[in-house]
Amino acid sequence: MIAPSILSADFARLADEAAAVAGSDWLHVDVMDAHFVPNLTLGLPVVSSLLKATDIPLDCHLMIEDPARWAPPYAEAGAYNVTFHAEATDDPSAVARDIRAAGAKAGLSIKPNTPIEPYLEILRDFDTLLVMSVEPGFGGQSFMPEVLDKARTVRRLVDAGELRLVVEIDGGINEDTIAQAAEAGIDCFVAGSAVYNTDDPGRAVSALRAAAAS
Ligand code: DX5
Ligand code: ZN
Repeated sequence: MIAPSILSADFARLADEAAAVAGSDWLHVDVMDAHFVPNLTLGLPVVSSLLKATDIPLDCHLMIEDPARWAPPYAEAGAYNVTFHAEATDDPSAVARDIRAAGAKAGLSIKPNTPIEPYLEILRDFDTLLVMSVEPGFGGQSFMPEVLDKARTVRRLVDAGELRLVVEIDGGINEDTIAQAAEAGIDCFVAGSAVYNTDDPGRAVSALRAAAAS
Protein backbone atom coordinates (compact mmCIF):
# COMPACT_ATOMS: atom_id res chain seq x y z
CA MET A 1 0.00 0.00 0.00
CA ILE A 2 1.10 3.58 -0.70
CA ALA A 3 0.08 6.44 1.61
CA PRO A 4 1.04 9.87 0.29
CA SER A 5 1.71 12.33 3.10
CA ILE A 6 0.00 15.67 2.64
CA LEU A 7 2.70 17.28 4.82
CA SER A 8 4.48 18.05 1.55
CA ALA A 9 1.29 19.11 -0.28
CA ASP A 10 -0.03 22.65 -0.80
CA PHE A 11 -2.16 23.23 2.32
CA ALA A 12 -4.25 25.85 0.51
CA ARG A 13 -5.33 23.24 -2.08
CA LEU A 14 -5.77 20.08 -0.02
CA ALA A 15 -8.83 18.79 -1.89
CA ASP A 16 -6.98 19.06 -5.22
CA GLU A 17 -3.85 17.54 -3.73
CA ALA A 18 -5.88 14.57 -2.49
CA ALA A 19 -7.51 14.19 -5.91
CA ALA A 20 -4.06 14.14 -7.51
CA VAL A 21 -3.28 10.86 -5.71
CA ALA A 22 -6.70 9.26 -6.20
CA GLY A 23 -5.20 5.82 -6.76
CA SER A 24 -3.56 5.73 -3.33
CA ASP A 25 -4.51 3.28 -0.63
CA TRP A 26 -4.45 5.70 2.30
CA LEU A 27 -3.90 9.45 2.59
CA HIS A 28 -1.42 10.14 5.40
CA VAL A 29 -2.20 13.19 7.54
CA ASP A 30 0.53 14.42 9.91
CA VAL A 31 -0.86 16.13 12.99
CA MET A 32 1.87 17.95 14.96
CA ASP A 33 1.36 19.99 18.12
CA ALA A 34 4.68 21.87 18.52
CA HIS A 35 5.17 20.00 21.83
CA PHE A 36 5.70 16.32 21.07
CA VAL A 37 7.60 17.45 17.97
CA PRO A 38 9.08 20.89 17.24
CA ASN A 39 6.63 21.66 14.44
CA LEU A 40 2.97 22.61 14.07
CA THR A 41 0.71 21.47 11.25
CA LEU A 42 -3.04 20.95 11.39
CA GLY A 43 -5.72 19.46 13.58
CA LEU A 44 -9.26 18.18 13.77
CA PRO A 45 -11.01 20.98 11.79
CA VAL A 46 -8.79 20.39 8.78
CA VAL A 47 -9.18 16.62 9.05
CA SER A 48 -12.97 17.00 9.23
CA SER A 49 -12.96 19.10 6.07
CA LEU A 50 -10.60 16.72 4.29
CA LEU A 51 -12.91 13.81 5.10
CA LYS A 52 -15.63 15.54 3.10
CA ALA A 53 -13.27 16.31 0.24
CA THR A 54 -11.87 12.85 -0.50
CA ASP A 55 -12.86 9.18 -0.57
CA ILE A 56 -9.32 8.01 0.18
CA PRO A 57 -9.20 6.55 3.72
CA LEU A 58 -7.39 8.96 6.03
CA ASP A 59 -4.40 7.65 7.94
CA CYS A 60 -3.94 10.18 10.76
CA HIS A 61 -0.48 10.20 12.33
CA LEU A 62 -0.72 12.08 15.60
CA MET A 63 2.65 13.45 16.73
CA ILE A 64 1.11 15.00 19.82
CA GLU A 65 1.17 14.91 23.59
CA ASP A 66 -1.74 13.42 25.53
CA PRO A 67 -3.17 11.12 22.84
CA ALA A 68 -5.60 9.67 25.40
CA ARG A 69 -7.42 12.99 25.26
CA TRP A 70 -6.91 14.01 21.64
CA ALA A 71 -6.79 10.82 19.56
CA PRO A 72 -10.38 9.45 19.87
CA PRO A 73 -11.98 12.57 18.30
CA TYR A 74 -10.15 11.81 15.04
CA ALA A 75 -11.79 8.39 15.05
CA GLU A 76 -15.19 9.91 15.82
CA ALA A 77 -14.73 12.36 12.93
CA GLY A 78 -14.30 9.44 10.52
CA ALA A 79 -10.57 8.84 10.08
CA TYR A 80 -9.89 5.29 8.89
CA ASN A 81 -6.74 4.77 10.96
CA VAL A 82 -5.59 6.80 13.97
CA THR A 83 -1.96 6.35 14.95
CA PHE A 84 -0.32 7.91 18.01
CA HIS A 85 3.14 7.63 19.53
CA ALA A 86 4.17 5.04 22.10
CA GLU A 87 6.48 7.66 23.64
CA ALA A 88 3.55 9.99 24.36
CA THR A 89 1.54 7.83 26.78
CA ASP A 90 1.93 5.36 29.64
CA ASP A 91 -1.00 3.23 28.52
CA PRO A 92 -1.05 2.77 24.74
CA SER A 93 -3.54 -0.09 24.91
CA ALA A 94 -6.15 2.09 26.65
CA VAL A 95 -5.83 4.71 23.91
CA ALA A 96 -6.15 2.00 21.24
CA ARG A 97 -9.32 0.75 22.92
CA ASP A 98 -10.86 4.21 22.82
CA ILE A 99 -9.90 4.72 19.16
CA ARG A 100 -11.44 1.39 18.20
CA ALA A 101 -14.56 2.09 20.25
CA ALA A 102 -14.93 5.32 18.30
CA GLY A 103 -14.88 3.38 15.04
CA ALA A 104 -11.34 3.59 13.63
CA LYS A 105 -8.36 1.30 13.30
CA ALA A 106 -5.72 1.96 15.96
CA GLY A 107 -2.05 2.46 15.18
CA LEU A 108 1.07 2.62 17.35
CA SER A 109 4.09 4.59 16.16
CA ILE A 110 7.65 4.40 17.44
CA LYS A 111 10.46 6.88 16.85
CA PRO A 112 13.74 5.67 15.30
CA ASN A 113 15.52 5.23 18.65
CA THR A 114 12.61 3.54 20.43
CA PRO A 115 13.05 -0.24 20.67
CA ILE A 116 10.17 -2.47 19.65
CA GLU A 117 10.68 -5.21 22.26
CA PRO A 118 8.84 -3.47 25.16
CA TYR A 119 5.79 -3.12 22.91
CA LEU A 120 5.59 -6.57 21.31
CA GLU A 121 3.12 -7.82 23.92
CA ILE A 122 0.64 -4.97 23.37
CA LEU A 123 0.76 -5.00 19.57
CA ARG A 124 -2.19 -7.37 19.59
CA ASP A 125 -4.27 -4.36 20.69
CA PHE A 126 -3.39 -2.54 17.46
CA ASP A 127 -4.23 -2.73 13.76
CA THR A 128 -1.18 -0.82 12.52
CA LEU A 129 2.44 -0.38 13.57
CA LEU A 130 4.06 2.76 12.14
CA VAL A 131 7.84 2.48 12.20
CA MET A 132 9.43 5.93 11.89
CA SER A 133 12.43 5.96 9.59
CA VAL A 134 13.26 9.62 10.33
CA GLU A 135 12.90 11.69 13.51
CA PRO A 136 9.27 12.83 13.43
CA GLY A 137 8.61 16.51 12.79
CA PHE A 138 9.62 17.32 9.24
CA GLY A 139 9.38 15.99 5.70
CA GLY A 140 12.31 15.65 3.35
CA GLN A 141 14.75 13.91 5.71
CA SER A 142 17.01 10.96 4.88
CA PHE A 143 15.85 7.38 5.36
CA MET A 144 17.35 5.51 8.36
CA PRO A 145 17.78 1.89 7.21
CA GLU A 146 18.69 0.72 10.73
CA VAL A 147 15.02 0.86 11.77
CA LEU A 148 14.21 -1.98 9.37
CA ASP A 149 15.31 -4.56 11.95
CA LYS A 150 12.24 -3.57 14.00
CA ALA A 151 10.04 -4.11 10.96
CA ARG A 152 11.61 -7.53 10.37
CA THR A 153 10.95 -8.55 13.98
CA VAL A 154 7.26 -7.67 13.71
CA ARG A 155 6.95 -9.14 10.18
CA ARG A 156 8.12 -12.52 11.54
CA LEU A 157 5.41 -12.43 14.23
CA VAL A 158 2.76 -11.50 11.67
CA ASP A 159 3.88 -14.25 9.30
CA ALA A 160 3.84 -16.73 12.19
CA GLY A 161 0.23 -15.80 12.87
CA GLU A 162 1.01 -14.36 16.30
CA LEU A 163 -0.02 -10.81 15.31
CA ARG A 164 -2.40 -9.28 12.79
CA LEU A 165 -1.04 -5.88 11.86
CA VAL A 166 -0.35 -3.59 8.95
CA VAL A 167 3.36 -2.75 9.18
CA GLU A 168 3.85 0.80 7.93
CA ILE A 169 6.97 2.91 7.46
CA ASP A 170 7.25 6.69 7.45
CA GLY A 171 10.15 8.94 6.52
CA GLY A 172 12.59 9.18 3.63
CA ILE A 173 10.71 6.74 1.40
CA ASN A 174 11.43 7.30 -2.28
CA GLU A 175 12.15 5.25 -5.40
CA ASP A 176 15.67 4.49 -4.12
CA THR A 177 14.75 3.42 -0.57
CA ILE A 178 11.38 1.71 -0.97
CA ALA A 179 12.70 -1.64 -2.20
CA GLN A 180 14.75 -2.29 0.94
CA ALA A 181 11.73 -1.44 3.08
CA ALA A 182 9.59 -3.82 1.02
CA GLU A 183 12.20 -6.52 1.43
CA ALA A 184 12.02 -6.04 5.22
CA GLY A 185 8.31 -6.83 5.11
CA ILE A 186 6.65 -3.42 5.12
CA ASP A 187 2.98 -3.45 4.00
CA CYS A 188 2.34 0.29 3.74
CA PHE A 189 4.74 3.03 2.63
CA VAL A 190 4.24 6.68 3.57
CA ALA A 191 5.83 9.14 1.16
CA GLY A 192 5.61 12.92 1.35
CA SER A 193 8.29 14.73 -0.61
CA ALA A 194 8.72 11.85 -3.07
CA VAL A 195 5.06 12.29 -4.07
CA TYR A 196 4.27 15.98 -3.69
CA ASN A 197 7.59 17.58 -4.55
CA THR A 198 7.15 16.36 -8.13
CA ASP A 199 5.25 17.66 -11.16
CA ASP A 200 2.87 14.69 -11.16
CA PRO A 201 1.96 13.24 -7.75
CA GLY A 202 -0.21 10.52 -9.31
CA ARG A 203 2.65 9.30 -11.47
CA ALA A 204 4.98 9.42 -8.45
CA VAL A 205 2.64 7.04 -6.59
CA SER A 206 2.72 4.61 -9.53
CA ALA A 207 6.51 4.84 -9.67
CA LEU A 208 6.75 4.03 -5.96
CA ARG A 209 4.48 1.01 -6.42
CA ALA A 210 6.67 -0.25 -9.23
CA ALA A 211 9.87 0.34 -7.26
CA ALA A 212 8.47 -1.49 -4.21
CA ALA A 213 7.71 -4.53 -6.34
CA SER A 214 11.11 -4.57 -8.05
C1 DX5 B 1 7.45 13.25 9.44
C2 DX5 B 1 6.10 12.78 8.98
C3 DX5 B 1 6.11 12.14 7.64
C4 DX5 B 1 6.57 13.02 6.51
C5 DX5 B 1 7.39 12.16 5.62
O1 DX5 B 1 7.43 13.50 10.79
O2 DX5 B 1 5.57 11.84 9.90
O3 DX5 B 1 4.84 11.57 7.33
O4 DX5 B 1 5.54 13.59 5.76
O5 DX5 B 1 7.97 12.97 4.64
P1 DX5 B 1 9.05 12.38 3.63
O6 DX5 B 1 8.38 11.28 2.88
O7 DX5 B 1 9.41 13.56 2.80
O8 DX5 B 1 10.20 11.87 4.46
ZN1 ZN C 1 3.76 10.77 9.26
